[in-house]
Amino acid sequence: MNKQIVIGCDNAAVNLKNDLKAFMEARGYEVENVGCDSKDDPTYYPLIAERVCEKIIESGYTKRGVLICGTGLGMAMCANKFPGIRAGVCHDSFSGERLALSNNGNVICFGERVIGVKLAEKILGEWLELEFVDGSSTPKVEAIKDIEKKTMK
Ligand code: RB5
Repeated sequence: MNKQIVIGCDNAAVNLKNDLKAFMEARGYEVENVGCDSKDDPTYYPLIAERVCEKIIESGYTKRGVLICGTGLGMAMCANKFPGIRAGVCHDSFSGERLALSNNGNVICFGERVIGVKLAEKILGEWLELEFVDGSSTPKVEAIKDIEKKTMK
Protein backbone atom coordinates (compact mmCIF):
# COMPACT_ATOMS: atom_id res chain seq x y z
CA MET A 1 0.00 0.00 0.00
CA ASN A 2 1.36 3.42 -0.97
CA LYS A 3 2.34 5.46 2.09
CA GLN A 4 2.27 8.85 0.33
CA ILE A 5 -0.51 11.03 1.65
CA VAL A 6 -1.57 14.55 0.68
CA ILE A 7 -3.26 16.56 3.43
CA GLY A 8 -5.06 19.89 3.41
CA CYS A 9 -7.45 21.93 5.51
CA ASP A 10 -9.13 25.30 5.68
CA ASN A 11 -8.73 27.75 8.52
CA ALA A 12 -11.40 25.96 10.59
CA ALA A 13 -9.26 22.85 10.89
CA VAL A 14 -5.59 23.79 11.29
CA ASN A 15 -5.29 22.15 14.71
CA LEU A 16 -6.70 18.79 13.60
CA LYS A 17 -4.69 18.91 10.38
CA ASN A 18 -1.44 19.41 12.31
CA ASP A 19 -2.29 16.58 14.67
CA LEU A 20 -3.22 14.11 11.92
CA LYS A 21 -0.11 15.02 9.93
CA ALA A 22 2.09 14.27 12.95
CA PHE A 23 0.10 11.08 13.63
CA MET A 24 0.77 9.78 10.13
CA GLU A 25 4.42 10.80 10.06
CA ALA A 26 5.01 8.96 13.33
CA ARG A 27 3.70 5.84 11.59
CA GLY A 28 6.00 6.11 8.59
CA TYR A 29 3.73 7.87 6.13
CA GLU A 30 5.16 10.49 3.81
CA VAL A 31 2.80 13.43 4.24
CA GLU A 32 2.62 16.35 1.81
CA ASN A 33 0.90 19.37 3.31
CA VAL A 34 -0.81 21.78 0.89
CA GLY A 35 -2.05 24.18 3.59
CA CYS A 36 -3.54 26.13 5.01
CA ASP A 37 -1.26 26.59 7.99
CA SER A 38 -2.80 29.55 9.78
CA LYS A 39 -6.19 30.38 11.20
CA ASP A 40 -5.75 33.75 9.47
CA ASP A 41 -5.42 32.19 6.02
CA PRO A 42 -8.72 32.98 4.26
CA THR A 43 -8.32 30.40 1.48
CA TYR A 44 -11.72 28.83 0.81
CA TYR A 45 -11.98 25.08 1.38
CA PRO A 46 -12.75 24.28 -2.29
CA LEU A 47 -9.33 25.60 -3.30
CA ILE A 48 -7.63 23.38 -0.72
CA ALA A 49 -9.62 20.36 -1.90
CA GLU A 50 -8.52 21.16 -5.45
CA ARG A 51 -4.84 21.19 -4.44
CA VAL A 52 -5.10 17.80 -2.77
CA CYS A 53 -7.09 16.19 -5.58
CA GLU A 54 -4.78 17.49 -8.29
CA LYS A 55 -1.81 15.93 -6.52
CA ILE A 56 -3.61 12.60 -6.27
CA ILE A 57 -4.51 12.74 -9.97
CA GLU A 58 -0.92 13.74 -10.91
CA SER A 59 0.35 10.69 -8.99
CA GLY A 60 -1.78 8.40 -11.15
CA TYR A 61 -4.04 7.81 -8.14
CA THR A 62 -1.28 6.14 -6.14
CA LYS A 63 -1.45 8.82 -3.43
CA ARG A 64 -4.37 9.16 -1.03
CA GLY A 65 -5.75 12.30 0.58
CA VAL A 66 -6.92 13.67 3.90
CA LEU A 67 -9.13 16.78 3.83
CA ILE A 68 -10.33 18.61 6.91
CA CYS A 69 -12.66 21.58 7.34
CA GLY A 70 -15.23 22.56 9.95
CA THR A 71 -17.53 19.63 9.18
CA GLY A 72 -15.72 17.67 6.46
CA LEU A 73 -18.81 18.10 4.28
CA GLY A 74 -17.60 20.88 2.03
CA MET A 75 -14.29 19.15 1.44
CA ALA A 76 -16.02 15.90 0.46
CA MET A 77 -18.40 17.71 -1.89
CA CYS A 78 -15.50 19.42 -3.65
CA ALA A 79 -13.24 16.37 -3.80
CA ASN A 80 -15.97 14.29 -5.41
CA LYS A 81 -16.10 16.76 -8.31
CA PHE A 82 -12.70 15.49 -9.49
CA PRO A 83 -12.43 12.44 -11.74
CA GLY A 84 -11.23 9.32 -9.98
CA ILE A 85 -11.63 10.81 -6.53
CA ARG A 86 -13.92 8.98 -4.11
CA ALA A 87 -14.17 10.95 -0.88
CA GLY A 88 -16.25 10.49 2.23
CA VAL A 89 -16.70 12.06 5.64
CA CYS A 90 -15.90 9.44 8.29
CA HIS A 91 -16.64 10.29 11.89
CA ASP A 92 -17.01 6.69 13.01
CA SER A 93 -14.88 3.61 12.67
CA PHE A 94 -17.35 1.59 10.58
CA SER A 95 -17.63 4.35 7.99
CA GLY A 96 -13.84 4.55 7.72
CA GLU A 97 -13.68 0.80 7.16
CA ARG A 98 -16.40 0.88 4.52
CA LEU A 99 -14.86 3.90 2.76
CA ALA A 100 -11.85 1.67 2.08
CA LEU A 101 -13.48 -1.71 1.56
CA SER A 102 -16.86 -0.87 -0.02
CA ASN A 103 -16.17 2.37 -1.86
CA ASN A 104 -12.43 2.15 -2.62
CA GLY A 105 -12.28 5.68 -1.25
CA ASN A 106 -9.04 7.52 -1.83
CA VAL A 107 -9.82 10.66 0.20
CA ILE A 108 -11.03 10.71 3.81
CA CYS A 109 -12.60 13.85 5.24
CA PHE A 110 -13.00 15.06 8.81
CA GLY A 111 -14.60 18.03 10.53
CA GLU A 112 -12.61 19.63 13.31
CA ARG A 113 -15.83 21.13 14.72
CA VAL A 114 -17.39 17.66 14.89
CA ILE A 115 -14.85 15.06 15.96
CA GLY A 116 -12.22 14.77 18.69
CA VAL A 117 -8.57 14.25 17.90
CA LYS A 118 -8.26 10.74 19.30
CA LEU A 119 -11.28 9.37 17.44
CA ALA A 120 -10.09 10.98 14.20
CA GLU A 121 -6.67 9.37 14.69
CA LYS A 122 -8.25 5.95 15.24
CA ILE A 123 -10.46 6.19 12.15
CA LEU A 124 -7.62 7.53 10.01
CA GLY A 125 -5.16 4.90 11.23
CA GLU A 126 -7.59 2.11 10.38
CA TRP A 127 -8.51 3.53 6.97
CA LEU A 128 -4.87 3.95 5.97
CA GLU A 129 -4.15 0.29 6.59
CA LEU A 130 -7.15 -1.11 4.72
CA GLU A 131 -6.93 -1.96 1.05
CA PHE A 132 -9.82 -2.45 -1.36
CA VAL A 133 -9.92 -5.95 -2.82
CA ASP A 134 -11.84 -6.99 -5.89
CA GLY A 135 -15.12 -8.67 -5.03
CA SER A 136 -18.80 -7.89 -4.73
CA SER A 137 -18.09 -4.15 -4.29
CA THR A 138 -16.10 -3.90 -7.54
CA PRO A 139 -19.04 -3.51 -9.94
CA LYS A 140 -20.53 -0.83 -7.68
CA VAL A 141 -17.32 1.19 -7.77
CA GLU A 142 -17.23 0.65 -11.54
CA ALA A 143 -20.76 2.08 -11.65
CA ILE A 144 -19.43 5.24 -9.97
CA LYS A 145 -16.85 5.47 -12.75
CA ASP A 146 -19.61 5.03 -15.34
CA ILE A 147 -21.42 8.02 -13.85
CA GLU A 148 -18.18 10.03 -14.12
CA LYS A 149 -17.90 9.15 -17.80
CA LYS A 150 -21.40 10.54 -18.34
CA THR A 151 -21.08 13.66 -16.21
CA MET A 152 -17.43 14.70 -16.38
CA LYS A 153 -15.70 16.08 -19.47
C1 RB5 B 1 -15.99 27.37 7.41
O1 RB5 B 1 -15.66 28.02 6.22
C2 RB5 B 1 -16.78 26.11 7.12
O2 RB5 B 1 -17.86 26.40 6.31
C3 RB5 B 1 -15.92 25.06 6.45
O3 RB5 B 1 -14.78 24.81 7.23
C4 RB5 B 1 -16.55 23.72 6.23
O4 RB5 B 1 -17.16 23.25 7.40
C5 RB5 B 1 -17.42 23.57 5.07
O5 RB5 B 1 -17.96 22.51 4.80
